[in-house]
Amino acid sequence: PRSIYLTRHGQSEYNSMGRLGGDSPLTSDGRKYALALAEFFEEEEVPGLRVWCSQKVRAAQTSQHLKPDFHTEYWKALDEIDAGICEGLTYDDIQQRYPKQSEDRAHDKYHYRYPSGESYEDVVSRLEPVIMELERQANVLVVSHQAVLRCILAYFYDRPLPELPYIDIPLHSLVKLTPRAYHCDSTIYSYDI
Ligand code: G3H
Repeated sequence: PRSIYLTRHGQSEYNSMGRLGGDSPLTSDGRKYALALAEFFEEEEVPGLRVWCSQKVRAAQTSQHLKPDFHTEYWKALDEIDAGICEGLTYDDIQQRYPKQSEDRAHDKYHYRYPSGESYEDVVSRLEPVIMELERQANVLVVSHQAVLRCILAYFYDRPLPELPYIDIPLHSLVKLTPRAYHCDSTIYSYDI
């Protein structure tokens, strides 16, 4: 059976400051995770593994130690949800500068669209081609971001859309999904870095 592996990038500088979005590089912990991920795939020996990475620096750095013979593609569709006017802010900043936005988002997180940015619903629709390809491909590792992986997991786990934005996907963990006839088996590998 083929498997789909999903991971967020390693910890980025923005993650460590609690800031949203941006395009910051990995911290030293994030770099440790990139090495641990490469080691995992050395041992796992997945035939013909393809790597699909977002176009953000933190995702590219997370995949950089993987064997060069894994075919790698960089998909813009795998980039993190665009937080528009809230990019680079912390949740406290947003609460202070745009209290109405925080409130609207808490009220309907799935449909809420950041001004000049995206909603989870928008992310689901831009992921459609990615999911179609994932359905057709053999072994794939997706290196992306929390909001995006929530959408992909909700699809394979068949979770209701209002729950989707609350699926917890911690940093430094790898999800292995193996689609079966009527469900997906999943294993989570967590790295204590
Ligand atoms: O930086 C964005 C996170 O990956 C998703 O956060 O729960 O605010 O949508 P959220």
